[in-house]
Amino acid sequence: MVSQFSTFKFQLSVEDVLAKAQAKERSLDRGEISFLLSLSDSDDIAKFFAAAYEVKVKHIGRRVALRGIIEAGNICSKDCLYCGIRRSNGALGRYSLSEDDIYRLAEECAKENYASLVIQSGELESDAHTLFIERVLKRIEPLNLGVTLSLGEQSEEVYKRWRDAGAARYLLRIETSNKELYAKLHPTGHSWERRVECLRALRRTGYQVGTGVMSCLPCQSIDDLAQDIIFFGEMDVDMIGMGPYIPHPEAPLSSLYSQDVSNEERLLMGLKMIAATRLYLHDINIAAATALQALADDGREQGIMAGANVIMPNITDTQYRRNYQLYAGKPCLDENEEDYRSALEKRLTDLGETIVYGERGDSLHYARRVR
Ligand code: 5AD
Repeated sequence: MVSQFSTFKFQLSVEDVLAKAQAKERSLDRGEISFLLSLSDSDDIAKFFAAAYEVKVKHIGRRVALRGIIEAGNICSKDCLYCGIRRSNGALGRYSLSEDDIYRLAEECAKENYASLVIQSGELESDAHTLFIERVLKRIEPLNLGVTLSLGEQSEEVYKRWRDAGAARYLLRIETSNKELYAKLHPTGHSWERRVECLRALRRTGYQVGTGVMSCLPCQSIDDLAQDIIFFGEMDVDMIGMGPYIPHPEAPLSSLYSQDVSNEERLLMGLKMIAATRLYLHDINIAAATALQALADDGREQGIMAGANVIMPNITDTQYRRNYQLYAGKPCLDENEEDYRSALEKRLTDLGETIVYGERGDSLHYARRVR
């Protein structure tokens, strides 16, 4: 990772910057956020994460919300250079779950009392897909789950139809707030401006809006990451889902740029991004992404201790998992299995956290901004 900050000394003190961030949200400037993201001393990093965790506890409590995530299909019209399910990856079996499959998984999610569901798939824009999702949403509405969609760029009209059909939240990662970097990571025809416009349209349509970025991307600086966090504030988002970039062997980005970044460094930067975002935006929902778990077995628990408050167990049937490998080493565990769930619960309880069952877990920030 290129850091333009490593060459000169900061006059800032870790304690002062953390105290300022805790006292008031959005109080840090880009330089101060970069300073936190650049910390390398393990005691300083421990203080940084502890301060972010304190902010999480103050606003949200020692509580973790679960969202069951359904990977509804891997057919994608996009060709993002980093992504394992990009259109040009011919080495992948493509699938789409049926309406019945999705309904069954949603029912299971309700039965497990997760109270909240994410439907995610490759990006598709067509009348048939719009109708399909609309039908699914109407069918699952009686289950009374907080439904998040993560189905990519769509027209405002489509967002509205899905909102009217019962979706309450939408997650669309901007991937990076740096337009030039975005252009390096995507082929022509992919537009950063359209993505921002989609985030605005989602906001107008009344969703709780989530976005996010990848960290440790090739050609990305610490300053870019600090700017990403400022961007989250400017867009006034309600939720964040973000994680480190992990190269995928079938995706061209991994061979276009050679990177000398270890898994430990990727995990650490993923955690630092969570902590800095929590210190900047106190009351939003922040997910500890699955990419963290790909880098360490307890990566998501580490994410919670750095300020995240949401975990999204994958409830897709295991047979489809290997075809939804966005990056190398994505876990294919059956996280809905009793054993897995009780292990997660125990690990979180050992950390002093309680899983909240039976609550939709709406973003506090959203509740405050629409009040
Ligand atoms: N490493 C980490 N995250 C990835 N995503 C896609 N490819 C990768 C990768 N190689 C993330 C993107 C996308 C989300 C569905 O998965 O941020 O928005």
